[in-house]
Amino acid sequence: MKRLVAVALATILLSPAFAEGDPTRGQQDFRACAPCHSLQPDRNMTGPSLAGIWGRKAASLPSFERYSDALKSSGVVWDDRSLDGWLVDPEAMVPGNDMPFAGIKDSRARADLLAFLRQATKPGAQQQMAQQGGMKGMGGGGMMGGMMGGGHDPDLKSVEPAKQVKAITYCHDTYRVTTADGKTRAFWERNLRLKTDSGKDGPHRGAPALVPAGMMGDRADVIFAAPDEISKTIEGRC
Ligand code: HEC
Repeated sequence: MKRLVAVALATILLSPAFAEGDPTRGQQDFRACAPCHSLQPDRNMTGPSLAGIWGRKAASLPSFERYSDALKSSGVVWDDRSLDGWLVDPEAMVPGNDMPFAGIKDSRARADLLAFLRQATKPGAQQQMAQQGGMKGMGGGGMMGGMMGGGHDPDLKSVEPAKQVKAITYCHDTYRVTTADGKTRAFWERNLRLKTDSGKDGPHRGAPALVPAGMMGDRADVIFAAPDEISKTIEGRC
């Protein structure tokens, strides 16, 4: 009986929320975040970069322009405790925020993730890890971005000829996209998405890129440097 109490007590005292997490397991858990969050400074995707997050006021990264009013007015400062609370249930902590994420109920997984993030978001951590080759594809939308259909890789300023868009025509319900390798591919209009990326990895002006998006090669994105190029590039002709 005494033993049982001792075990119960130890369980409470060593409650995983306060136990040291395992950063290696945490790096795996970060896959849930990587489609939306980079760890490189000011590299914003759906969500803001998490570089330097510890000690930062919530919603205060100047380069991220899509924070919700709810997060901006939350008064939260990010530390071990507030990040843990956010990851349990973002909606409960800051009602009306814009992070589409249900939360991680397993406290062990949260501790692991925080142990990883604590290291990976330190200033200079990304360069270090890149040099060690330990972070390949993580945090920049690289590996995950690729798997999740598009992401931010590759750098659209230097894609192979098969992805360099030379011309697009539009006829009835069909787009025909001609690329620098001389091929023309036809897409049902609802299967071709026209997007822009004005960022570092976006295409040069006047040089939109074709990026496959579907499993069957039936869908693709054409990514332009700016919205004014879209209608200029597409020629209505049968
Ligand atoms: C589907 C996209 C998406 C996923 C997945 C996601 N986030 Fe977010 N995250 C966002 C968005 C969008 C915001 C901004 C929310 C707002 O302004 O209300 C945000 C905000 C945050 C913030 C506050 C940042 C700041 O500058 O104040 C933190 C911390 C954060 N996320 C951590 C995580 C972690 C850790 C994970 C993985 C467990 C994760 N997020 C998963 C989209 C996402």
